[in-house]
Amino acid sequence: MRIYRGRVAATSRPEARSQEMGELMSASSGRSGKGWALLAAAAVGMGIAWSAGAQITNTKHNLGTAPGGTGVNQFSGTGEICVFCHTPHGADTTAAVPLWNRTLPSAGSFTTYDSLGTSTLDGKTLPVGSVSIACLSCHDGVTSMSAVINAPGSGTTGDAAWVAGTWSGANQTAGKIAAGLITNIGTDLRNDHPIGIQYCGGGITTTSTSGSNTDCNDQDFKGPNKITGQNIWYVDTGTAGRQKTDMILYTRSGETFNSGGTSVAEPFVECASCHDPHTTNATFLRISNSASAVCLACHTK
Ligand code: HEC
Ligand code: HEC
Ligand code: HEC
Ligand code: HEC
Repeated sequence: MRIYRGRVAATSRPEARSQEMGELMSASSGRSGKGWALLAAAAVGMGIAWSAGAQITNTKHNLGTAPGGTGVNQFSGTGEICVFCHTPHGADTTAAVPLWNRTLPSAGSFTTYDSLGTSTLDGKTLPVGSVSIACLSCHDGVTSMSAVINAPGSGTTGDAAWVAGTWSGANQTAGKIAAGLITNIGTDLRNDHPIGIQYCGGGITTTSTSGSNTDCNDQDFKGPNKITGQNIWYVDTGTAGRQKTDMILYTRSGETFNSGGTSVAEPFVECASCHDPHTTNATFLRISNSASAVCLACHTK
């Protein structure tokens, strides 16, 4: 059983349940205080997943030596967590991603979903970019995960400067996500849910959205919401207003929808529409996918 923002979702897969227990155990074993252990034990007793405080610490995205990481891959060179993805200075700005500490791959290295040629795809597919290319800077399996722009410490730049560390764990090879694993998305995206894809099955039909499916070209989609006065889009999954549990939609410069003299930046689906890289939810999903709630958040099927 798992609680997402006050809602209780049943986990039917036993392995998912034991994985959650594993997360709980590692969350408590990383801390020595008796209070933590007691609280964790109480949480186990009640069947409630640990979610207070540290989020990303207790996930597979904690790649350094900081306690709590649930993945098998670990780099011995740092106890920092954020540094594998973010830097306070000197970030890569070739895509609109927050303070990215990795050199982003070139869009041209990917084969996009639309080239599969399904007859049902209506939306426009953009070159891989936005937050998706940030995820793929590790999940394409091409570059070592310790290859960062700004290594920890004073004045070091580039992977070569970050030599004081080694990778261990069965799911990596020389710090790259190992080939053949499902987590190695690779550079051929024809076998993955479309990304960089226009929302709404061919885009929106109005600049002033109401969150109704009539705002969509293909009315089998839930209408997107937009923060008033800003070009910030999302598909609402619960409480009104944008939360991180909503399916976030992303805009790109130059991609606009125009109607009656009004122009808005258009919404697209990217990796982080469905995933939040910091959450302890199973497979980093924004909401539980119990009863396929993730899919049904956008697709009215
Ligand atoms: C595995 C890569 C990864 C790690 C590690 C990581 N982040 Fe992020 N972070 C991202 C990505 C990708 C985004 C953009 C997500 C989005 O569009 O919602 C992001 C967005 C953010 C944002 C802005 C959006 C938001 O959710 O508030 C903040 C703030 C942030 N990260 C802080 C942190 C901090 C602090 C740490 C370390 C404790 C950290 N991140 C570790 C990948 C990472
Ligand atoms: C710094 C490298 C890095 C970045 C950037 C990164 N990841 Fe990961 N991610 C990993 C590693 C390592 C794993 C564990 C892989 C394994 O053990 O097979 C992982 C695992 C995952 C998993 C599987 C979790 C599970 O429970 O099995 C998902 C889902 C995921 N990442 C999504 C994302 C998304 C979405 C983004 C961008 C928003 C992202 N990641 C960015 C390194 C990264
Ligand atoms: C439309 C929603 C959606 C988008 C977009 C999406 N994912 Fe996922 N992803 C999922 C769901 C749902 C799962 C869980 C699948 C499962 O339980 O097997 C998942 C699982 C994963 C996993 C774990 C491996 C697996 O399949 O079990 C990784 C890694 C991952 N996603 C990375 C990414 C990356 C990187 C991107 C962008 C290139 C991306 N995802 C885009 C919905 C999405
Ligand atoms: C954030 C919104 C969103 C979520 C969540 C989402 N999808 Fe989609 N999906 C889309 C969009 C947009 C398209 C492109 C539709 C088009 O242009 O015809 C799409 C396309 C598809 C297609 C059709 C591809 C084709 O070739 O016609 C399938 C199948 C699909 N999604 C399945 C899923 C499943 C299964 C899930 C849950 C794991 C899911 N989607 C979650 C937005 C979403």
